[in-house]
Amino acid sequence: MTLFGALATALWAMLPAYVPNNAAVLAGGGRPIDGGRTWNGRRVLGDGKTWRGTAAGTLAGLALALALNLVVEPAGAALGVDLPAFPLLAGLGLALGAMAGDIGASFLKRRTGRERGAAFPGLDQLDFVIGALALAALFAPDWTLSTFTPPVLVAVLIATPVLHVVTNGIAYALGLKDEPW
Ligand code: CTP
Ligand code: MG
Repeated sequence: MTLFGALATALWAMLPAYVPNNAAVLAGGGRPIDGGRTWNGRRVLGDGKTWRGTAAGTLAGLALALALNLVVEPAGAALGVDLPAFPLLAGLGLALGAMAGDIGASFLKRRTGRERGAAFPGLDQLDFVIGALALAALFAPDWTLSTFTPPVLVAVLIATPVLHVVTNGIAYALGLKDEPW
């Protein structure tokens, strides 16, 4: 596979995992998942992880996966890359996993004394990748193995943090997010 092919496949296959966090920012609010509960004097997750944001993010990622399926042929032909279509379970795993990874990161942030909105460099950029790949592998193991080949996986791990920093910077500049991470 060419470098371009690996990069294009990585970005395409991860799109259903990239969108949930941004959709959650737009839709977030309402009841926090932890219901305000604390553990050792600190919130379990914090007010930044809500049911509404999580549901909206998951649905947005799944909807995007299904929408991408409609254009996978022309998009692949235009790029000259054999792009993967998303089985329903793969799309769901990527979207729900991205949200779960982000929630897991908040759990770790609270346990390490970081308040809501505090940065955790490294974790902030990769939490949702780990969650998305893990749940995709669980829900659609064959698809995940054949899609995320070693070169594609390397491209995901390099391109995602770069994209994450850029999109969050834009969301911050637009006033959609309180912090640029
Ligand atoms: N959000 C949400 N539900 C989620 C994830 C995000 O409602 N599962 C919304 C919240 O309004 C949140 C915003 O998106 O404040 C930004 O998300 P994020 O940066 O992940 O949360 P933080 O508020 O920074 O909190 P944390 O420190 O726990 O990451
Ligand atoms: Mg944050």
